[in-house]
Amino acid sequence: METVLKRVLDPAALSGEIARPSRLVDAMRHGALNGGKRLRPILVVETAKLFGRDDDGVLEAACALELIHCYSLIHDDLPAMDDDDLRRGQPTVHKAFDEATAILAGDALLTLAFDVIGSAAVHDDAAIRLRLSQELSRAAGVGGMAGGQMLDLESEHRARSETEIRLLQSMKTGALLRYACRSGAIVADASGEDIDRLTRFGEVIGLAFQLADDLLDVEASPEIMGKATGKDAEAGKATLVGLWGSEKTHAELKTLLAEAAKLLAPYGENAETLSALADFIVNRSN
Ligand code: IPE
Ligand code: IPE
Ligand code: MG
Ligand code: MG
Ligand code: MG
Repeated sequence: METVLKRVLDPAALSGEIARPSRLVDAMRHGALNGGKRLRPILVVETAKLFGRDDDGVLEAACALELIHCYSLIHDDLPAMDDDDLRRGQPTVHKAFDEATAILAGDALLTLAFDVIGSAAVHDDAAIRLRLSQELSRAAGVGGMAGGQMLDLESEHRARSETEIRLLQSMKTGALLRYACRSGAIVADASGEDIDRLTRFGEVIGLAFQLADDLLDVEASPEIMGKATGKDAEAGKATLVGLWGSEKTHAELKTLLAEAAKLLAPYGENAETLSALADFIVNRSN
C-alpha cells in the first residue's frame, strides 16, 4: 500500500496534468504517507482475497479509498472543524504547512482518488470500475462521510438520541469501512449474496470502529494515539460512549464482534485474517 501511495503521489505530473506544485505534493504526502494504520486498504485486500482475487489491481482500488480517508482526516483536523494539531504522531497538515494548503491537499487527494479507482488494473470490466467509482462517491459524499461530518459538527453541545448518533456514525466513519468490505467483494466478482454479507460485515465493524475510537478518546493517552484525546467531551460531541458510559460500550463491542464472527462463519478458515481484523478494531490500543 505504501508503495502504491508513494507512486500516485509522485512529484512528476501525469499525462493530462499541467504541473504538480511541489508545496501541494509535499502537503498531500504529509497527509497520506505519515503512518496510518491502513485499515481500510487491508479490508479491501483481505475481502478480495476471500473471493479469490489477490493481485496488484486490488491495491489500486484500496489506494483510492485510502486517499479519501487521508483527505477526510486533513479536513477533520482543520481549525474550522476539530482544530487538532497532532495526527499520527506528527503535526497536522495545516500546522506543518498552512490552512489554505491543507484545504487544497484534501481537495487534491479526493480528486486523485477518482483517477485511481478508474485505473484499468482495478478490473478488466469498465462497468465494474464505474460501479466502484459511483459507490465510492456515495460512500464519501453528502450521503456518506461528508454528510456524517456535517451531522457530527451539528451535534456539538446538543443532546442527541441513540438513533441520531447511530446515523451520524454510520455515515461519518461507517460509510468508508462499509465500502472497504463491499468493494473488496465487488472487485473480486463475488456473488450478490456474498457482497451483501460482506457489506453487513463492513457495517458491523464500522460501528465497532467508531465505538472504539470514542472509547479511546476517553481512555487512551495522546502519546499512544498519536492524536489529542479528550476532544469529544471537550467539544461537547454526542457519542454513544457519552450516552452509555464505558461498561455498556464494552459490552456492545462484544456483541458486535460476535455478529462479525457469525457473518464470517460460512467462509471458515479462509476468513481468519478478516476475523483477526475485526478483533483488532475492537481491541486496538491506538
Ligand atoms: C481515524 O481513523 C479517524 C476516524 C475515522 C475515527 P483511523 O484510526 O483509521 O486513522 P489512521 O488512518 O490509522 O490514522
Ligand atoms: C473523524 O472522526 C471521521 C472522519 C475523518 C470522517 P473523529 O473526528 O472522531 O476522528 P479523530 O478522532 O479526529 O481521528
Ligand atoms: Mg471529527
Ligand atoms: Mg477529529
Ligand atoms: Mg475521534
